[in-house]
Amino acid sequence: MTAVVAMATLGLSGCAADSTSTRACVILPDADSGTRWEPGDRPALESALTEAGYEADIQNAGSDTTKYATIGDQQLSKGCGVMLLVDFQGAGVSVAAKAKEQGVPVIAYDRPIEGADYYVSFDNEVVGQLQGQMILDGLAAAGKDPATASVIFSSGDPADGNAAMFLKGATDVLEAAGVTAAFTMEGTWDGAKAGTLFEQAFTAVDGNVDAVLAPNDNNAASIIAILDKNGLTVPVSGQDASVAGLQNVLLGKQWATVYKPFKVEAKAAADLAIQILKGEKPTFEKSNNGVPFLALDPIATTADLVLSLIHI
Ligand code: BGC
Repeated sequence: MTAVVAMATLGLSGCAADSTSTRACVILPDADSGTRWEPGDRPALESALTEAGYEADIQNAGSDTTKYATIGDQQLSKGCGVMLLVDFQGAGVSVAAKAKEQGVPVIAYDRPIEGADYYVSFDNEVVGQLQGQMILDGLAAAGKDPATASVIFSSGDPADGNAAMFLKGATDVLEAAGVTAAFTMEGTWDGAKAGTLFEQAFTAVDGNVDAVLAPNDNNAASIIAILDKNGLTVPVSGQDASVAGLQNVLLGKQWATVYKPFKVEAKAAADLAIQILKGEKPTFEKSNNGVPFLALDPIATTADLVLSLIHI
């Protein structure tokens, strides 16, 4: 059985090289950890890849590492000229390894993947620094001393390499200003879980909360719901410039969000894929665990910025 499958795979990939060199295989991680992968990245990748002359096969692993591996096998046996993988809890590593065995170049898209050829993302430490700065600006506006403020620290899923970079950037900025964590929540990208964890944190600090470092708009929304329930409005950070996040920013419930334009990220990944397939070896200033890293610039987005764009 295994031998038959292996032969079938070899057979298909053997003839795949020519006919599929313009087929781009993409795996997205989930449909609910944020508001970006399906509504944002999928259409952005689809158009960046098809405009660049690729056929785009975009699948979503639906928060399931087994499904992630199955999609990877299916895509590779159909044939891929290039793979763009958004990791989900480490599942991208073995798909990347299989792709490379078959000579298919791998671009880690947005999240780092060990063993990928390239990593295209935003500068994730800068994302974190912008989040830290939002908290400091919010505390200053509320007249709170950062050194004595009660700030709850929360972060994304530790299995996502980005989460550690966001947290490092934020912590560097906050600690430099004298902020220490009043409570550190367990990391997650599950918005509902972030709400439960925040409820526990809120109880642990007896409701004494001056600000909350939140890793993205989705987690921030759940945290804000608990703050609302307790009649509190304090600076909360975020990321993704999602519709819900921007609404919270305009309502004054979230200090700001970090805007990371999907179209720019998708276009950069498609351009890089073309260069790699042409046999070029682009180099980048940064690297992440030895993987060359194209780090795009994120944009801090406050209510003032949104309003200034509307009232021109
Ligand atoms: C992405 C964020 C996203 C989060 C949850 C991170 O890796 O960079 O934009 O909010 O995952 O999906």
